[in-house]
Amino acid sequence: MKQREIILAAERYVQEELGQDSSGHDYWHIYRVWQTAKKIGEAEGADLLVVELAALLHDIADEKLNESEAVGLAKVRGWLARQGADEAVIEHVMEIISTMSFKGGDRSGMRTLEGAVVQDADRLDALGAVGIARTFAYSGAKGQLAHDPHLKPRTAMTREEYRKGKSTAINHFYEKLLKLKELMNTPYAKRMAEGRHQVMEAFLEQFYEEWEGKR
Ligand code: ADP
Ligand code: NI
Repeated sequence: MKQREIILAAERYVQEELGQDSSGHDYWHIYRVWQTAKKIGEAEGADLLVVELAALLHDIADEKLNESEAVGLAKVRGWLARQGADEAVIEHVMEIISTMSFKGGDRSGMRTLEGAVVQDADRLDALGAVGIARTFAYSGAKGQLAHDPHLKPRTAMTREEYRKGKSTAINHFYEKLLKLKELMNTPYAKRMAEGRHQVMEAFLEQFYEEWEGKR
């Protein structure tokens, strides 16, 4: 099969598999990661077939959608083989998505440029205007408040408080989102992350002023 055809087949496959999933990994998350990965991949001179396939397929093996992660990964490998993708492409894509979905430890070690690009694109989707929207959507779905000025930062909580306590959408910026720009692998993604970081900083500043009726 030609490159473009495999990519379009992957897009259809992901649409069918993920459908209306509302856990933050719906098809439109995949779509954004795909577009961003293409952009970074072009700028960094990466192999775009591998980048696009890995971006499109990176959440299909998620354990929330499968019996286990291993079952999910086997499903993706089988799908790629049925499309007639080259063995080297299959191996490379599988390496990227298994590293990305690995939950229990260090996910930072992407071995190849293509892996670095897709990981950057996935992390960028947690930043900026889209990242803000996803954070509040996720928080609402979990029954968390948007903001609670009395909430202790997690770093100041005891283990027990941490276990019981709910966080807030605003707290998630400090726990994770404002740290992500330091974790970008590629120079192009670093620049994108800078822009998105500034959007979040400006948002938080405005948010606190509005909270006190100052603006
Ligand atoms: P991913 O694996 O793509 O990073 P997650 O499942 O961790 O995604 O999160 C999905 C979205 O919800 C992301 O935008 C993330 O920033 C946001 N999110 C994750 N945990 C929290 C939380 N405790 N509070 C608010 N938003 C969260
Ligand atoms: Ni993702």
